[in-house]
Amino acid sequence: MRTFDFAAVVPAGSPPPAARWTGSAKYNFTGGNNDADQVPVDGLIDAANAVLRREGRTLATYGLASGPQGYRPLREFLVGKLKRDAGITCTADDILVVSGSLQALDLVNGALLTRGDTVICEQDTYQGTLTRFMRLGVTAIGVPVDRDGMRMDALAAALADCKARGARPKMIYTIPTVQNPTGTILSEARRHEMLRLADQHGVPIFEDDCYADLIWNGQRPPALYAMSKSGNVIHCGSFSKSIAPALRVGYIVAPWGIMSRMLALKTDAGSGALEQMVLAEYCAPHFTAHVPELRQALRAKLETLMETLNEQFGTAAEFDDPRGGIFLWVKLPDSVDTMKLCQAALKQGVAINPGPEWSTDAKHSGARLRLCFASPTHQQIREGVAILAEVCAREFGVPTRSANISRAHA
Ligand SMILES: Cc1ncc(COP(=O)(O)O)c(C=O)c1O
Repeated sequence: MRTFDFAAVVPAGSPPPAARWTGSAKYNFTGGNNDADQVPVDGLIDAANAVLRREGRTLATYGLASGPQGYRPLREFLVGKLKRDAGITCTADDILVVSGSLQALDLVNGALLTRGDTVICEQDTYQGTLTRFMRLGVTAIGVPVDRDGMRMDALAAALADCKARGARPKMIYTIPTVQNPTGTILSEARRHEMLRLADQHGVPIFEDDCYADLIWNGQRPPALYAMSKSGNVIHCGSFSKSIAPALRVGYIVAPWGIMSRMLALKTDAGSGALEQMVLAEYCAPHFTAHVPELRQALRAKLETLMETLNEQFGTAAEFDDPRGGIFLWVKLPDSVDTMKLCQAALKQGVAINPGPEWSTDAKHSGARLRLCFASPTHQQIREGVAILAEVCAREFGVPTRSANISRAHA
């Protein structure tokens, strides 16, 4: 008689219960999953062996022998990487290792936000961020994005509007370097302008940079954190997209004034030590060779996806070639409701992310969808997109032609 009613003791206002996992769709274009063939398994095995033999005994203490901010050799690797790639000058003491950048989001939100606050972000942005804002009772003001990232005229207008209403935004949350879902990169000129506007309005910036390693040509603008003169930027990154998401290792770089607040909220006695040790051991000698190989494999999958979309949807699917990353943000004709398309496609084994779940503006995103191309194989991409076109044609009458054959006669 295991009938205890937990619902009676769950507080009001709790998030709705999670659905039980029933397996992945056969054609899975959702989430931020990576390419299984590109996980450097052999290198990770060697690294695990070496680091455990040498330092395994340090697992006996919480935080290894490195203190609460994470395994020091990993932070030291990051100091060099961030300097080389993002222009960030920092020390290991400015870095906090976290359990995926999702924990970074929770810590930054916990340190800065309270119910009723206002934040500014890109109009189309990461679902995990939007659901957090919603759960916290925080209003997110979405600023439109064009090919150079967040539009600074629109940001200036949003900040001015907040000021006129007497609401000072608590932060500008941005994914400036390979934005999720649009795949855009905020230009260097706009980075200067964003910093200027943020300083003018006394608003900190939270820079979520987890896709920055995945730019096709490897050339990125300096991080906002590196460019800030006033120290108003919190930067976070992740090994999820460059090595493997299941490791759950991310990091925050921040001035001590706010780092000390986040550290006070990180009450988990440290993020998983083994992952940090293995990553440090693997990354120090191999990261810079691994990443270009990964980028090449991802680019090839994107080519397959864009080619197949053109073939199957023709002009009905509009998209910009993203500058890097693992997502394609696709616009279908306005008659398509991607929330409904998502349900219908799932019944045929194709999982997609519907636009409204990735946007502050349901109308703007209603006919948009996000496709992750990193995780499915080339063949799954071809088959999955063909099924998606079939479902879309059946449900919404578009595309009218696929593979240059009229669907009316198909
Ligand atoms: C913009 C952005 N931030 C944060 C995350 C969370 O990543 P993780 O917790 O795996 O580092 C993701 C994952 O897809 C993301 O797209």
